[in-house]
Amino acid sequence: MIVTPKIRGFICTTAHPDGCAANVQSQIDYVKSLPALANPPKKVLVIGASTGYGLASRIVPAFGGGAATIGVFFEKPGVENKTGSAGWYNSVAFEKAAAAAGLYAKSFNGDAFSNEIKETVIRAIKADLGQVDCIVYSLASPRRTDPTDGETYKSVLKPIGQSYSQKNVNTDTGEVSPITIEPASDEEIAHTIKVMGGEDWELWIEALSGAGVLADGFKTVAYSYIGPDLTYPIYTNGTIGRAKEHLEESAARINSQFGNDTAYVSVNKALVTQASSAIPVVPLYISLLYKVMKEKGLHEGTIEQIQRLFSDHLASGGKPTLDDHLRIRIDDWEMREEIQKAVAEAWEKVTTDNLSEISDFSGYKKEFLRLFGFGLEGVDYQAETETERPLPSEK
Ligand code: NAI
Repeated sequence: MIVTPKIRGFICTTAHPDGCAANVQSQIDYVKSLPALANPPKKVLVIGASTGYGLASRIVPAFGGGAATIGVFFEKPGVENKTGSAGWYNSVAFEKAAAAAGLYAKSFNGDAFSNEIKETVIRAIKADLGQVDCIVYSLASPRRTDPTDGETYKSVLKPIGQSYSQKNVNTDTGEVSPITIEPASDEEIAHTIKVMGGEDWELWIEALSGAGVLADGFKTVAYSYIGPDLTYPIYTNGTIGRAKEHLEESAARINSQFGNDTAYVSVNKALVTQASSAIPVVPLYISLLYKVMKEKGLHEGTIEQIQRLFSDHLASGGKPTLDDHLRIRIDDWEMREEIQKAVAEAWEKVTTDNLSEISDFSGYKKEFLRLFGFGLEGVDYQAETETERPLPSEK
């Protein structure tokens, strides 16, 4: 079929298989254009491996370090005349490129929060790899069914304690207008921690350890965000921030069991991904941030960020550099004073009328479409394309 974008609010309900493949290939090409990682992990499990930061976290150790990778994600395969999700096509493309490069790659499409998928992945590790030496936890999910009580928890993106009013951009129309978000209830806070905190990360490590499939000296990393004062009420001091605090506590618990320098939280840059597009206020901040960082030659996407995470911290041969809270900071360029000052000044000024001039809103929109495989060079979007694309490792 001929695949075109169908955008509904902050999601695109179609994805272009060839565009997604081109997107994955450009990330692979970037990694291959750089020196190989000095001290790479060799057997990597990525939970949340199909899009955004998780996809980049699969590509970097594979193509920068020759690692075997297992990816876990929750995606929709395409069928005849109906496209699958971008993460599905990304993973098909990743597996094909890995096979062509002689790299082991297996993927599991299912609910990472469930016991079943943990058991399935453990069986695959035992059968194919013996052990894993690096586990990346990069889930972003609106809900989680806890396998111990069977209850489904939903995460919310809300401030805590008081309502939050701020400028916001409607990403469909480009209209900048104020938005007010009411504070979360105690139950909503607790549920967001259940979904986006570190409980499931710990459960994965516990299950892998119990099965004896963790290599001595293994490393594990999960991702967080901090950002500027202006988004503090909706992010760092909001429900999602509470979940990220829990993630840091989980890292400390994993370290107390397996030794310091086992588990890390890496604070990453704000970037257009399926998860971040759903957060109020953040898309406007990202549009302004991109403009400033591009002008200063400091802009990075997920692949550049994760390349830096591995080359400077996780696979450098030395120990990662940590902040006072023992976190890795690859948001360091975003948080530079000159960058934040310029963004804060633009934030004061931005309106619907000057949005395209003082922000990189067009770049934001292009990047959003690229997530779904649209707008990539060399892809013939007028041509019929096959929507049913099996995952090579599922055959
Ligand atoms: P994303 O939406 O691109 O990726 C989410 C991944 O989780 C996908 O692979 C998806 O298939 C998988 N997933 C979701 N629910 C699942 C389930 N039940 N079972 C199995 N897989 C499931 O999100 P993004 O932005 O890459 O986020 C990843 C992590 O990075 C999150 O912890 C997020 O908070 C963090 N982060 C994101 C930033 C951003 O600006 N995008 C900035 C800093 C941190």
